[in-house]
Amino acid sequence: MKILITGGAGYIGSHTLIELSNAGYKFVVFDNLSNSSKKSIKRVEKIIKTPIFFEEGDVRDKKALNKVFKKYKIDSVIHFAGLKSVSESVQNPLEYYDNNIVGTLKLLEVMKKNNCKKLVFSSSATVYNEVDAQNYTPLKENFPTGVTTNPYGRTKYFIEEILKDLCLSDLKFKIAILRYFNPVGAHESGTIGEDPNGIPNNLMPYISQTAVGKREFLSVFGGDYLTHDGTGVRDYIHVVDLANAHVKALNYLNSKNKQTANPLIVNIGTGVGYSVIDMIKAFEKVSGKKVPYKIVQRRLGDISTCYSDSSYAKEVLNWESKKTIDDMCADSWKWQSNNPNGYSKNK
Ligand code: NAD
Ligand code: WQD
Repeated sequence: MKILITGGAGYIGSHTLIELSNAGYKFVVFDNLSNSSKKSIKRVEKIIKTPIFFEEGDVRDKKALNKVFKKYKIDSVIHFAGLKSVSESVQNPLEYYDNNIVGTLKLLEVMKKNNCKKLVFSSSATVYNEVDAQNYTPLKENFPTGVTTNPYGRTKYFIEEILKDLCLSDLKFKIAILRYFNPVGAHESGTIGEDPNGIPNNLMPYISQTAVGKREFLSVFGGDYLTHDGTGVRDYIHVVDLANAHVKALNYLNSKNKQTANPLIVNIGTGVGYSVIDMIKAFEKVSGKKVPYKIVQRRLGDISTCYSDSSYAKEVLNWESKKTIDDMCADSWKWQSNNPNGYSKNK
């Protein structure tokens, strides 16, 4: 019996493979490599000192998925596969709805057909109503969702709703929806990490690419927010802590005999907010590198402050973050400085 890890070659997936292996779980990775490299799998194999079952394929391809379910006797799924760029989703919403929503529907159909009814799903803090995130931090799981600002966020919201309907229709489904806040950092080996294509949209890869000399300076989007230093505040979570939350979620689903008509929905964050300037300062301290920056206009669609109430994760999953802001920055730097071009030699 194995766990299917869709999108397991990607940033969060590859880190999760290590924690699953440490916890004794057996798994198969299914990924179309549209935003990742097989090198991540090779490097994880080195870390865990075990070969990994890898199947290249697209979650929208039911035939291919079905074959994998049969071949490996899949009994649970962690579903990372999806597209994740907010700006791309605004430009190309149909691609996002197809990949994320149709992809999830096909996966669920194949799961149901194969009587596989345990699922951990990668959701996002972006599902919370924008207005509430702005005014009512820390965000709790029961806060309203759905008033999102972009197609990417809507795909996550719609999928959450689909999963709720599925649980209602079939009490045998056991589903955990993890709402990630802002994943950053890398494995302490410095051999796997986040490898964005082109110019990074997210803060941490932009900071580390600036520190390594690939970017001239960081544009800080807005210096006039109502925060302690005027820059935006987020809940950054170390990717290894986040990876561990998936192990805890699986343990939870495996130990749960009681039937419920609802998915478990849990925030995965630290519960602490740091500003852009806090992140720059911490990064400079641990890396010994200067991160030149300029404060520019606010980025459209950004909010001032967003961080989690992470107490439910502790209560229900016995999970809490362990890594500090210094760990997040030091590990991002180790990955970036060892691999200035990510997994590709000529980026
Ligand atoms: P990533 O792009 O590094 O990993 C996603 C993986 O899925 C990639 O390896 C990609 O090749 C694969 N993939 C995409 N579409 C596929 C398809 N149709 N079939 C098979 N494989 C496919 O992204 P990540 O940062 O590791 O994110 C993983 C999940 O977590 C995503 O669902 C993302 O939306 C969600 N998430 C990410 C963040 C974040 O900031 N990184 C925050 C919240 C939620
Ligand atoms: C963080 C802070 C920016 C870049 C996004 C998605 C969200 C989730 C995580 C997937 C903000 C500031 C950033 C830069 C900057 N992804 N910033 N200069 O916007 O909180 O969340 O990624 O689910 O859905 O929306 O993350 O890293 O882009 O920004 O000043 O070059 O850094 O304004 O305050 P965000 P981010």
